[in-house]
Amino acid sequence: MANLWSGRFEKGMEEIVEEYNASINFDKRLYDCDILGSIAHVTMLSEIGIVSEEEKNKIVDTLQQIKTEIEEGKLNFTTKDEDIHMAVEGVLIKRLGDTGKKLHTARSRNDQVAVDTRMFVKKEIKLILENLTYLEHVLLEKANKYHDSIMIGFTHMQHAQPVTIGFHLMSYFQMFKRDMERFIDSYERTDYCPLGSCALAGTTIPINRHRTSELLGFKHVTENAMDSVSDRDYILEFMSAASICMMHISRFAEEFVYWNSQEFGYITIDDSFCTGSSIMPQKKNPDMAELLRGKVGRVYGNLIQLLTVMKGTPLAYNKDFQEDKEGLFDTVDTLKKSLLIFAKMLEKTEFNSENIKKHMNKGFLNATDIAEHLVKINIPFREAHEIVGKMVKYCENNSKDFVDLTNEDLKNIDSRLNKNAMPDLSMEGCIKGRVSYGGTAPSEVLRQIEAGKSAMESFNFPN
Ligand code: ARG
Repeated sequence: MANLWSGRFEKGMEEIVEEYNASINFDKRLYDCDILGSIAHVTMLSEIGIVSEEEKNKIVDTLQQIKTEIEEGKLNFTTKDEDIHMAVEGVLIKRLGDTGKKLHTARSRNDQVAVDTRMFVKKEIKLILENLTYLEHVLLEKANKYHDSIMIGFTHMQHAQPVTIGFHLMSYFQMFKRDMERFIDSYERTDYCPLGSCALAGTTIPINRHRTSELLGFKHVTENAMDSVSDRDYILEFMSAASICMMHISRFAEEFVYWNSQEFGYITIDDSFCTGSSIMPQKKNPDMAELLRGKVGRVYGNLIQLLTVMKGTPLAYNKDFQEDKEGLFDTVDTLKKSLLIFAKMLEKTEFNSENIKKHMNKGFLNATDIAEHLVKINIPFREAHEIVGKMVKYCENNSKDFVDLTNEDLKNIDSRLNKNAMPDLSMEGCIKGRVSYGGTAPSEVLRQIEAGKSAMESFNFPN
């Protein structure tokens, strides 16, 4: 069959052109959104009398049949079918003749592809939110289990202050919570129906765009037809949220990689998330964590690709926009799987608290506690900082720890220092006192966990 648009053409496309032009190989993934969109459209057309009730029923039945056949693998499209919109409509016309030819009244592929991709993004955001919810619950559960287990807190990858494992995990909980908010927010802006915008300027046919929007479960109708067929911000916004979320996964995954190394030994990643080496028999490599760290590259790439595609394109629709889909699909697949794998890996991970403790006597993790103690006996903080700095230098020069310093050592550093009036410098003592809002004290971590749980319950999930 000649192309559905071939009326004004004298010759067909060269094979290589046909292939280059076609998007069917990837946009076939939108078949269900496309068919649902067509069903809503023809329902509205029948309501305004453009097609009869009988014609509408035939079209709806045949579209549903096409959907089933695609799902059962009975309908195979080729590049001759160009894209999913042409492919479905082509089969419809083949089966229904003139009746099928009525479906494309008052619509264009330009608004069709926009409505399909909006429906797709909405559907996928919901699935991504499900995976994020799962990950958040694993984090809450682990944080609770380790709310008072001591951990080294780093800045600049140098020992900084003692924290708890639960506290460390809850910081990731916050990042993924914001990711959820970002996805919900981008869902809101995707929830606008562009169908009926037609090619770019609307139509003389008295269509009811609010009705198709309602039938498709959209919250709003887009305001301007030209914008509706030219806009891809909803994809860009989704991809931006996905990029930030993947960046969070990547940072967490990096911690898994080094925590799992022989140098750290903080965790042991479960065998089922590791692979071996083809030459070194002893190896157990944290491949999943490394892939989770690395997959962010393609997600950033997809975002930059589409930002670049959209840059400088004039209004309204341009074929450049067809380049929006492969990156979108790849981002969706990568993010959904990464979230799931990460959650499962974390679920099976236990921390080796004894190993962590072995590293704690290096790096004067309790230095700030002494400085804060001096502040409490009325020494200005900058001065206290200087004094403790001197204590550290003295200890380093004499291979001592704070607790080894004699009263004489201390008095030599500053006359106001007194061994008997030192605060509890044990790691447990240090974390216990950090009860400031958002601090690392176990009691405060438990409060953060409770707040996290209620935040998860009060999310305004799209329905
Ligand atoms: N396959 C096209 C795309 O993805 C559909 C819209 C084509 N519209 C057109 N007028 N050529 O963008």
